[in-house]
Amino acid sequence: MRINKYLSGCGLDSRRKCEQLVLDGRVKVNGKKVTDLATDVNDYDIVEVDGHYVTLKEKKTYIMLNKPKGCVTTVSDDKGRKTVLDFVKVKTRVYPVGRLDYDTEGLLLLTDDGDLANVIMHPRNAVKKTYSVRIEGEISDAELKKLRSGVEFGGVKYSPAEVKVVDFEKGETKLTVTVVEGKNHEIKNMLEAVGKSVSFLKRVSIGDLKVGGLKRGEWRYLKPEEIAYLKSL
Ligand code: URA
Repeated sequence: MRINKYLSGCGLDSRRKCEQLVLDGRVKVNGKKVTDLATDVNDYDIVEVDGHYVTLKEKKTYIMLNKPKGCVTTVSDDKGRKTVLDFVKVKTRVYPVGRLDYDTEGLLLLTDDGDLANVIMHPRNAVKKTYSVRIEGEISDAELKKLRSGVEFGGVKYSPAEVKVVDFEKGETKLTVTVVEGKNHEIKNMLEAVGKSVSFLKRVSIGDLKVGGLKRGEWRYLKPEEIAYLKSL
């Protein structure tokens, strides 16, 4: 990469202004002053401006996918099943943030920003994940109360969940469930703990980010304000 493009990519200034830095003799590459604008630099070169090391600002990729059911939340699958990356066609190596089950649909974030992925997933940050859930049959007040005060299933404890009953139709109850932990099979296990079987599961939001607007299998880049929001968590 040409030296002025490199310096600009470090966030110093426009390419034109960075040319001036070179011409003014303020730039060193691998300890040697350079004034030739035709100088090329690579990732492994050490670049200084006025005695301060500078590095390229990495541009990270942040994506939202409306995961359909029938695919795994991994980058490859030894059983040859579809993965979420079959839907997201980008050159950058992005990874799913957390996991949704094979038969779960909805909001999945993908990024190459490992730090941000950890922020979103770490239970300490209590990022709310909201699911639209359908269960077979009805749910009693006593069962709702248990879910709202925390349940245990298969030796695993689940923190209190926010649960709202939305509807009852064709023998199924529709619920909205909000959790903060992100444990494996969290929603299914919590409901199983009160004897309920989940027939439909969709993650509708992560914090303030909502999947609405994307059809099943569709994806989009996050907007700058959405990235800023996630970074503020
Ligand atoms: N809880 C589950 O049980 N499954 C998911 O895919 C997500 C949350």
